[in-house]
Formats: sequence, C-alpha cells, structure tokens
Amino acid sequence: MSNLKILVRESYELMSSRAASIIENQIHDKPDSVLGLATGSTPLGVYAEMMLKYKAGDTDFSRVRTFNLDEYYPIKKADAQSYYYYMRKNLFDFINIPDENIHIPDGEATDPNTECYTYEEKITALGGIDLQILGIGVNGHIGFNEPAKAFAAATHHVKLDASTIKENARFFANEKTVPTHALTMGIGTIMRATKIILLANGAKKAETLRDALYGPITPQNPASVLQLHRDVTVITDRDAGRLL
Ligand code: F6R
Repeated sequence: MSNLKILVRESYELMSSRAASIIENQIHDKPDSVLGLATGSTPLGVYAEMMLKYKAGDTDFSRVRTFNLDEYYPIKKADAQSYYYYMRKNLFDFINIPDENIHIPDGEATDPNTECYTYEEKITALGGIDLQILGIGVNGHIGFNEPAKAFAAATHHVKLDASTIKENARFFANEKTVPTHALTMGIGTIMRATKIILLANGAKKAETLRDALYGPITPQNPASVLQLHRDVTVITDRDAGRLL
C-alpha cells in the first residue's frame, strides 16, 4: 500500500496548472503558509501560473514564507546562474511576497556549515514547511541530495555528482563553470514537510520516477524515501508518467 497520490497529466501545462492550484488552495487555507520551493526547468510553468494568479487577484503572497531547497556554493547572488537570481526573475519580482519572508541558502556565506545550520534552524523556528515542491534529478536526487550511502538529516554542504554537473551545464557557459558544491536541505528536512508535491516532466525522467516510486527505498535513489512520507502528490506530464 502506498500513500503516494499519482496524477499523470497530458501536458507540461496541465501538470503545472494542477500543482499551481494545490499551492493556491494551500495559501487560501493558511495565508502565512511556509512553502518549500525548487528551481530548475521543471517548476517554471508552476511559477508562471502563480504569477498569473497573483495578477488576477486570486492569490495574496503578502504573508507567505518561503524556503528554497538549495543553492550552489560558492556563488554570488547577482550571478545569473544562482538560484537566488532564478527565484527573483522567475517568481519573486512579480508577486507581493515581502523580502524578509524569502529564504534561500546563502551562496555568499563565509562558512558553508554555519549557513546550513542557521538555515535549518530558521525552518524549525517557523514551524517547518507546510508544502514542499520538489523536482527530481535524472539520478534520483531531490534538492541536491545526491545518491549516497545514507540519507542526510538536515541542511548540509554537498559535493555535486559528476552527472548533476553535466546535467546542469545547460544553464552555464560550459561544464567547467558549474560549481562543484552546493548547500541543500537534507532528506530529513524534506521529509519533515507536512505535504509534498513531486513534479516531473519529459521522457528522460520516466525510469527514474518509476524506480523512485516503486523500487527499493535506498539512499542510492534519494527520491525513493518519499515512499515513506504520509502526504506526497506526484504530478507528471504524460512522458514522465509513462511507466507509473
Ligand atoms: C532544484 C533542485 C533539483 C531539481 C532537479 C531537476 O532546486 O532541487 O533537485 O529539481 O535537478 O531539475 P530540472 O527541473 O531542471 O530537470
């Protein structure tokens, strides 16, 4: 028996609008919701929908608090490849969320371990994450929790997998300029979220997703841990959901 709710939609747009509606309802039910946010290609459609809902007057973000999953380390906020920059350009600059309600691991911090500790403390202090949005890497990573020998309990400083660097090189000038490290919420941080939405689109995620959702629960496939969470909604397009 699984607690996973799986919604396979015909297109990327329908996947995105389903997820955006869940977020909208979450904010209506609890206007000061703590949202956990992802970057990368997958959630761009969700963020576009959220901006539209704000513009249409359907969603008010003035009390919402957010925590991003991860950030490269080191990286400058002004760097167009930073997740700080991504969040500004793809969501935050276009909705009414106050700056002080936004949290992203600081790629400019002098000590990465202190930054991770402080980040985790802030999440705990705000009562934890109500709704966490996740994408999934082709290697099964969630956040930047790469395949490993054990599940990480909390936000930590991590070395990126060669496969992740290769995959993310599309956002950089070339593979050599992709940062080798990152700061990421841990698997424990993610699993403490009350609700989780896992998004995936495109054919190259189909096998990863099947293995994560139906295969053995192992830190070698970090997303497989979601099988143990009480409230996960998996939303995919047709291609990514082909094997579910
Ligand atoms: C990004 C993140 C990553 C991505 C994953 C998929 O904040 O945490 O786990 O969700 O790498 O990336 P895309 O969506 O670009 O395929």
